Amino acid sequence: MNKNTSVDLDKSRLKDALIVSYSYSGNTHQIAKAIQTITGADWSEIYPWQPYPVEFPELLEQVQREVRNGYKPRLLPNARSPKQYAVVFVGSPNWCGTIAPPLASWLSRHDLSGKVILPFYSHCGGVAGDLAGDIAALCPKADVREALGVIGSGGDDLSAALTNWMDQAKKRSSQISQSPQSRNSLFTQRGAI
Ligand SMILES: Cc1cc2nc3c(=O)[nH]c(=O)nc-3n(C[C@H](O)[C@H](O)[C@H](O)COP(=O)(O)O)c2cc1C
Repeated sequence: MNKNTSVDLDKSRLKDALIVSYSYSGNTHQIAKAIQTITGADWSEIYPWQPYPVEFPELLEQVQREVRNGYKPRLLPNARSPKQYAVVFVGSPNWCGTIAPPLASWLSRHDLSGKVILPFYSHCGGVAGDLAGDIAALCPKADVREALGVIGSGGDDLSAALTNWMDQAKKRSSQISQSPQSRNSLFTQRGAI
């Protein structure tokens, strides 16, 4: 990312942002909805063309295979294009230490060059990964800021955590946000899945 590029993340900018989220069991969408409530930004949900299995062993087996192979599933055509937006919030569950393939698919199908990306994800305190780094690898010309990791759907602290994260993102330059350490989540807890 060109370090001289700077998108001013003031309030009006966040109101004009796009929120895009994939969620398997609803937690990430709840976080997306809370971001929309705070910012007033547009929100678009991503759905894979072929729904994922309902049973956990089959789901895990499929996700592990897709992540290993970098598979990008076909999506339903409802998700919005980021073209008109300078700032894009992108959300996913943490699946096997990375973003879910439907979000990877959406990111790789759109040109996010020059845009500020604010990543957020839901997780269960298991394998942490570097989700912002994985997003930056898919969007090398975007300014990917620090990721917000939220356990489950965030509970009572969600609103405060979101506001704090957005305030931090406004202060940080793209130069800082490109270091792997600074891309680690503010609210992630480590554990094992
Ligand atoms: C296949 C699969 C893999 C997962 N891998 C991780 C993981 O590596 N680390 C983690 O903290 N949570 C992991 N989780 C837990 C989810 O991230 C967590 O349940 C999250 O809240 C789900 O968000 P959603 O309701 O938006 O789908 C995994 C869940 C599934 C189904």
